[in-house]
Amino acid sequence: MQTILIANPKGGSGKTTLAVNVASSLAFAGGQVTLLDMDRQRSARLWLERRSPELPVIWPLETRRDERPEADWLVIDSAAGLHGKNLERAIKLASKVIVPVGTSLFDMQASQDFLDLLRAEKAVRKGRLQVGVVGMRMSARTRAAAALEEFLAGLDLPVLACLREAQVYVNTLVEGKSIFDLPLHQTVREREQWASLQRWLEKP
Ligand SMILES: Nc1ncnc2c1ncn2[C@@H]1O[C@H](COP(=O)(O)OP(=O)(O)OP(=O)(O)O)[C@@H](O)[C@H]1O
Ligand SMILES: [Mg+2]
Repeated sequence: MQTILIANPKGGSGKTTLAVNVASSLAFAGGQVTLLDMDRQRSARLWLERRSPELPVIWPLETRRDERPEADWLVIDSAAGLHGKNLERAIKLASKVIVPVGTSLFDMQASQDFLDLLRAEKAVRKGRLQVGVVGMRMSARTRAAAALEEFLAGLDLPVLACLREAQVYVNTLVEGKSIFDLPLHQTVREREQWASLQRWLEKP
């Protein structure tokens, strides 16, 4: 089983949006996916509760082991302010960490600190834990998006995707869906932007 941790201590950076779409992308690719919500706000759990049983199944980690298939993937949505013991615990479980970064200066500052902290982790230095970043809510032709693009490019870490600001992310979340649950023609640009992230996930 591969564990993907979605983390950024900065609130509102896009963790839950990314986590449920990652889980759904993996489920669509045919994997058995479990989802762990480490956040007391339970946003990812609420999303799962709203999800129609007709869509590709994503199992809450809390499901009894004899009531769900063996998992190929565990996706962890973490909480804002993740640090200390909880961070250590999440890192121990994970083989890949995805850090979503928002477009504000505060997002970039907080993310820089968190990425420095991750880089100092032994598991990262030894290559047991891979780290990638995703630019979130990047509206085309805005200064904010250009600044984030420059920030990401200067990090010396794989930039897995730059996701544009789009209502599909907001609307699907409310319905327990992901962009991958929508018809292709409604999500052509989103899927293009996800392609390199999906390839990175599938890499050993
Ligand atoms: N690409 C996007 N386009 C439009 N809206 C987005 C996009 N990504 C995230 N959002 C919106 O930004 C807000 C914050 O996203 P989200 O809840 O995923 O962040 P979070 O990091 O999980 O927040 P928290 O730290 O509170 O857990 C939400 O309202 C979400 O719908
Ligand atoms: Mg969240």
